Amino acid sequence: MNPFELPIETIEKLVREHGTPIYVVSRKKIRENFEMLDSGLPAVKFFYAMKANPQHEILEALVAAGAGFDVASKGEILAAVAAGAHPKNDLIFADTVKDPKQIAFAHSIGLDDFTFDNHSELTQIARHAPGAKVHLRIVVSNEGSVAHLSHKFGADVADAIGLMLQARALGLIPRGVSFHVGSQCLDAQRYVEALDTTKDVFVEAAKAGIELKSIDIGGGFPVRYIDEDIDIPEMCRTIREHYGKLFCDENGDGCDLVAEPGRAIVGDAMILVTKVISESVRNGKNWLYFDDGTYGSFMEVLLYKMKFPWRTNTNGPVKEYVLAGPTCDSIDVFSRDGAGEICGVELPQMHLDDLLIAGSMGAYTFSESTRFNGFEPAKFVFWD
Ligand SMILES: Cc1ncc(COP(=O)(O)O)c(C=O)c1O
Repeated sequence: MNPFELPIETIEKLVREHGTPIYVVSRKKIRENFEMLDSGLPAVKFFYAMKANPQHEILEALVAAGAGFDVASKGEILAAVAAGAHPKNDLIFADTVKDPKQIAFAHSIGLDDFTFDNHSELTQIARHAPGAKVHLRIVVSNEGSVAHLSHKFGADVADAIGLMLQARALGLIPRGVSFHVGSQCLDAQRYVEALDTTKDVFVEAAKAGIELKSIDIGGGFPVRYIDEDIDIPEMCRTIREHYGKLFCDENGDGCDLVAEPGRAIVGDAMILVTKVISESVRNGKNWLYFDDGTYGSFMEVLLYKMKFPWRTNTNGPVKEYVLAGPTCDSIDVFSRDGAGEICGVELPQMHLDDLLIAGSMGAYTFSESTRFNGFEPAKFVFWD
């Protein structure tokens, strides 16, 4: 069950026990999300992108479900290992901008799978993790996705073979290709096109005498926030069939496949419950101030103009409100329109101590929250 559908009485009881702001998490929903991807893409080994939500019990639930982890730092490596992950079998160091000290640390504990997209990164990996396996991340289209990761990451395909040859010359093992179609990708065609490009790289690499054995299809699988039309099983079917056509022989044997989903595993498995701590009228508009805001759980409203579904524990007549957080900064307003401008939202009338419940708050909320002004992140509560 999506915790956004929890009865209000249950949410009020949790608030009486734990206070606010709280995240209410369903481990069962996390498992269901994982299993939906796992059964849709049975040939894929999944490495949960823990940047989406690195909370310990969530990582433990995913270890129990059979997931590995995409990690981006020593901190994430330690968190994954503390949750039960095995450094060699269960971790990919997938950030392509790695601190050399952290490469050395990863290597020292047995992690041997690294992603890169430029020559400088290769030299650092060769120096601090000699003999490691490497995946080359390539640029692919992120059109239509919410976060355009190809703006910052990925090598041009024209440079791919040169980089693979350099990897080999540096004593590394060029194992495969990785890509990311952008976070909250709503169109499976992005994966289809990226697989086509990957196939070209495989063919060119073979001509250069490099046998690639692995594809990392990244993350990008979407979550339903307001009214997005999402069908993960259908998306998986498209990817599975296209992969089979391009990479599998008549017995169905292909290469190793991995994926690094983050958002789709945790997004709709967690809600935020935040309380009205102040109210005012400014320039004729009703403002509500909450004990969580853009420096806490709602950073993605500023970064990506994300919109979350709302509920309240009130029933009064509908009024329009501007929703703001508790910090001293005027950017701390989380009701914003598609252009990122402050706007009002319609909610049943609310006053001091009333509760706002935000749905689909599992991904990139807690992990992006700050300590600005001394406010602590919301507390985790597992209701199932
Ligand atoms: C390298 C890498 N892999 C996986 C992910 C997870 O993406 P998503 O949450 O869209 O599934 C990200 C997100 O930034 C990423 O940078």
